[in-house]
Amino acid sequence: MRRLLLLLCSCALLPLSLLAADAPNDKDVIQYREDVMKTLDEQSAALGQMASGVVPSDTMAADMQILALTASTALKAFTPKVAGGQAKPDVWSNWADFSKKMTDFAQTTAQGAKAAQQSSDAAMTSLVDIANGCKGCHDMYREEKKGQASQ
Ligand code: HEC
Repeated sequence: MRRLLLLLCSCALLPLSLLAADAPNDKDVIQYREDVMKTLDEQSAALGQMASGVVPSDTMAADMQILALTASTALKAFTPKVAGGQAKPDVWSNWADFSKKMTDFAQTTAQGAKAAQQSSDAAMTSLVDIANGCKGCHDMYREEKKGQASQ
């Protein structure tokens, strides 16, 4: 019961415009998948900092889990067939390949999260595979530029 109340309270904090929206428009769909990608980017940057020793690596296992969890949501963000942003139309015309790449990528990050629980050395090895997963997909499915400053 207390949980339900908490849930209701936190919903009350949502902007009314969000609650009123019945279906996301194309801009929202693109914004959402780009936000998921940005989270992947930030998380891998944080892990890279740990791997290179510029920040302590004691939260590596947790950070790997956040990366893996985000990766597990990424395919869903591309399910609506909305071209735009930096996504090439091939995402949807080659859906079988794209979704396999994303599923494989999610698996690689899940293995990385497991490895990080064993040792940070093992986690570092999987960071290389993870970075290859980003690049392997971007090379095929992401436009170089979208005419606005992004990374
Ligand atoms: C299976 C494919 C795939 C994988 C794996 C993938 N991405 Fe992406 N990424 C995309 C596509 C497609 C876009 C373009 C999305 C858009 O603009 O609508 C994108 C966009 C981005 C963007 C730009 C977001 C913006 O604000 O426009 C960043 C940053 C990014 N990816 C980082 C990463 C990182 C880091 C990884 C790995 C840790 C990764 N991506 C893994 C397909 C992928």
